[in-house]
Amino acid sequence: MLERLEGLKLNALKELKAVTGIKELDLWRVHYLGKKSELNSILRGLAALPVEERKAIGARANRIKADLEGGFGQKESVLREAQLMGAAEERRLDISLPGRPYPLGHLHPITQTLAEVCDIFVSLGFGVVEGTEVEWNYYNFEALNIPEEHPARDSMSTSWVDFEAEGGERTMLLRTHTTSLTARAIEFRRPPIRLVEPGKVYRYEASDATHTPMFHQIDGIAVDENITMADLKGTLYEFARRFFGEERKVRFRCDYFPFVEPGVEMAIECSVCRGAGCRLCSNTGWIEILGAGMAHPQVLERGGIDPEIYSGFAFGMGVDRLPMLRHGIDDIRLFYNNDLRFLSQF
Ligand code: DAH
Repeated sequence: MLERLEGLKLNALKELKAVTGIKELDLWRVHYLGKKSELNSILRGLAALPVEERKAIGARANRIKADLEGGFGQKESVLREAQLMGAAEERRLDISLPGRPYPLGHLHPITQTLAEVCDIFVSLGFGVVEGTEVEWNYYNFEALNIPEEHPARDSMSTSWVDFEAEGGERTMLLRTHTTSLTARAIEFRRPPIRLVEPGKVYRYEASDATHTPMFHQIDGIAVDENITMADLKGTLYEFARRFFGEERKVRFRCDYFPFVEPGVEMAIECSVCRGAGCRLCSNTGWIEILGAGMAHPQVLERGGIDPEIYSGFAFGMGVDRLPMLRHGIDDIRLFYNNDLRFLSQF
């Protein structure tokens, strides 16, 4: 009987050593320590044995039982710990995995262009001011020598704001050009004035490849003693050189704007044909990019600046056309459709 007990213990411990999982361990426990186990039946059979044998075998069997239980407990804690570690390992954060990149946004190409043009003028000593898009008729037209019956109003189809002063006069509008800010600068600031005025402007027009009812302009104004046409040309020439490149030719020609005298238009050599003539430049070789001129004495005077002492130059340009010319974009509406396939290219 003692031999049987020893063999049982050896077998049990050998098998216990080979156990690798909790489930397997439970089967082992049932087999060697459970109610129906061999060891248990030996212990239950003790009562039937003679006293001497009962003592020796009982003691032995109980020791073996205690040993097996101890082995079981140890194995169980080893396996549970391994199980915990495994779970932790599975859930471990792998910091070497490449992250999922968030798509980075960037400035709209028109916003980029506004900033680029303003930066050039800032480096030449100009300040930057913005104003409201809803404007008084006075600053958009009247202060700039464009009275009600002036033909120049025809070229600026106006969106009037539903606000009528006494006498049915229409007094508010969506500004049709940023020159309204030049009128304000002349009224509210004193020389020396050097400002650029970027912003959105509105014309009551249908959209097509070259028109949208909202677009962007930058105006500029410089007022001081002894400002001449040479300052105008020098400043705008430098702007063109920096924005379009050293080798691009620039041309000034006479033009008419009610708020300047004399008025000019500035054109640059066509970016596509370099002056030879093509569809983009309507075969002229030149592309007009801005209007400018010497501040009209009446405009200065209306703003309280004495034209006998001070003179000034002003200019205004469409901003949307600049990136169109630079990148060969042939439809202005692309800027406003918010199609990321287009916008993300800039
Ligand atoms: N405001 C004019 C327009 O929208 C452009 C312009 C021309 C602005 C001459 C000026 C200027 O300041 O001097 O067509």
